[in-house]
Amino acid sequence: MTTSWEKEAVVFDEIYEGGGLVAKIPLLGPFIQRGIIERQNRALAFLQACGARTILDLGCGVGRLAVAAAQQGVTVYGYDISAPAIAQAQERAQKAGVSDRCHFVTADLLRVDFPQADAWFDLGCLHYLPDPAPVVQKLSHVPHLFSCLPMKGHWLSPVHYLYRTVLRGQKYLEFSETEIRHLLAAYPHLQIEASGMVYYVTTAVAG
Ligand SMILES: C[S@@+](CC[C@H](N)C(=O)[O-])C[C@H]1O[C@@H](n2cnc3c(N)ncnc32)[C@H](O)[C@@H]1O
Repeated sequence: MTTSWEKEAVVFDEIYEGGGLVAKIPLLGPFIQRGIIERQNRALAFLQACGARTILDLGCGVGRLAVAAAQQGVTVYGYDISAPAIAQAQERAQKAGVSDRCHFVTADLLRVDFPQADAWFDLGCLHYLPDPAPVVQKLSHVPHLFSCLPMKGHWLSPVHYLYRTVLRGQKYLEFSETEIRHLLAAYPHLQIEASGMVYYVTTAVAG
């Protein structure tokens, strides 16, 4: 149900600052906020660890990760299906003085031919695709990845479903470790770490 992201992508970003509808939900609001801030921090730590100079940001939203990465000298290709989110990402890059290293594209990932890069980042996008496999297949030339995928069967899954699908109208996928290894079979050296309701998935890096 990707079209619902046209407006939702910008609304989603309010959660980082503790805003939007989600902030009004006791316990769940702060829990979700902490989760996405942790995701961003982990992504930036992995960026440093893998030493990527060019990255792809799948479902880049308003460009939080992309601009933070560009501020570290990294070249970023950011893709999002939401035109308003991409407009905000471009503005953010301009304000931060890193427009020359940020290439934002309004596009459905299914239709993108990805350029050469050192790593791709999926901060909460692939699991919203009806089938992420064709997109992952188009990314197999990229040596490193960082992804964050909802854990199948977590005890909080019903709450996640209530918020995301019942309240926001967005379908999404959940994964077991086996399903993640199957989806990412092009990457034999994966590290998968369970944290809260998600699995953090990265390629192994030296050190
Ligand atoms: C949960 S938000 C995460 C945004 C950002 N990565 C972050 O962590 O702040 C998911 C993002 O994926 C984008 N998205 C969903 N389906 C997409 C698709 N088929 N192609 C491109 N972007 C998509 C949405 O527009 C939205 O910005």
